[in-house]
Amino acid sequence: MSFRWGIAGFGWVARDHMLPAIAAAGHELVGVADPSPAARIRAEQAGTPAWSGMHDLLQQRPDAIYIATPNHLHLPPVAEAAASGTAILCEKPIAATLDQAEALVSAARGITYGTAFDQRHHPAHRAIRKEVAAGTIGQVTAVRIAYACWVDPAWRPPGQVEASNWRADPQAAGGGAVIDLALHGLDLAEMLVGEPLDRLQITLQRRVHDYPVDDGGMLIGRFASGALLQSHVAYNCPEVLPRRRLEILGDRGMIVALDTMGQSAGGSAELICGRSGTGRSIPFDPGLSPFTAQALAFAAAVSGAAHDFCGERDLRLMRLFTAAHEEARGCL
Ligand SMILES: NC(=O)c1ccc[n+]([C@@H]2O[C@H](COP(=O)([O-])OP(=O)(O)OC[C@H]3O[C@@H](n4cnc5c(N)ncnc54)[C@H](O)[C@@H]3O)[C@@H](O)[C@H]2O)c1
Repeated sequence: MSFRWGIAGFGWVARDHMLPAIAAAGHELVGVADPSPAARIRAEQAGTPAWSGMHDLLQQRPDAIYIATPNHLHLPPVAEAAASGTAILCEKPIAATLDQAEALVSAARGITYGTAFDQRHHPAHRAIRKEVAAGTIGQVTAVRIAYACWVDPAWRPPGQVEASNWRADPQAAGGGAVIDLALHGLDLAEMLVGEPLDRLQITLQRRVHDYPVDDGGMLIGRFASGALLQSHVAYNCPEVLPRRRLEILGDRGMIVALDTMGQSAGGSAELICGRSGTGRSIPFDPGLSPFTAQALAFAAAVSGAAHDFCGERDLRLMRLFTAAHEEARGCL
């Protein structure tokens, strides 16, 4: 019998990325909960029943609920799904504030819970992790990330003219470009290096766009072993420019991945030898999207397989992030 998903919040990411991932994984979507009539019409047009509240959705007894509401609205559907004992895959960041995140992870204790850091499931990143763990680039010295896009005040998710730009609302989003984009890279870097970050500093900018949140930021951090992290994220980068780059530097080599960070399949990953300077590509499945891989991994986790979803780990990262983010917001 195929794995049965419910979705709370049928907006951009659910419709454009999770819906196709559920189909590609060979899973079933039992229905959608969304208070927006326009979102429910889009769900019905996509062939799935839709209700305004969680109660009707949970009555379908899905194997897992995927939560894709705006950041400050993650907690209520998570609490409702958790109370019914349903497994939960909740979008990142865990919530708009640390208090909400603490309450959310606490509510989800005892059930299978994962934060939807889809990028750790991208097949290129899984292949890179294997190379790093095998010591191919030697001792990791630094991870360098560039991850940027364009979100101006008038930005709306594709096909959602009725929507508001909650990403530029400090209460709804919890911040701007940095809280939206940087946690992907921090989580991914921890997965690739195989250890947690123990220091983090953030500098924010409001450089291009006229809204009350940051439109870019630079993060520097250090892992427990001493490896460094540098990450630049932005909402002020024209999307035709190169803007998704990941580098892992070691004392015997380097890995460079282009266009693997994001929601889509594909991109490239190259391993460069630290003695000869020659490169070879790292093979991975170019057709497997990080969302499909994540759906498959979460279904396996719910079925009892070994997995690396962990609410407590995600909460620890959120605590480290929030301390640095609050200090940076004070200087914006
Ligand atoms: N992993 C990724 O790459 C990725 C990409 C985009 C967005 N996201 C995250 O996904 C979440 C949603 O983002 P989006 O761009 O799809 O937003 P969106 O605004 O397009 O969609 C949110 C939907 O949630 C609905 N909603 C609001 N309150 C609700 C409730 N109580 N119960 C059910 N539905 C409710 C809204 O009506 C809307 O349809 C955010 O947390 C965002 O950070 C993650």
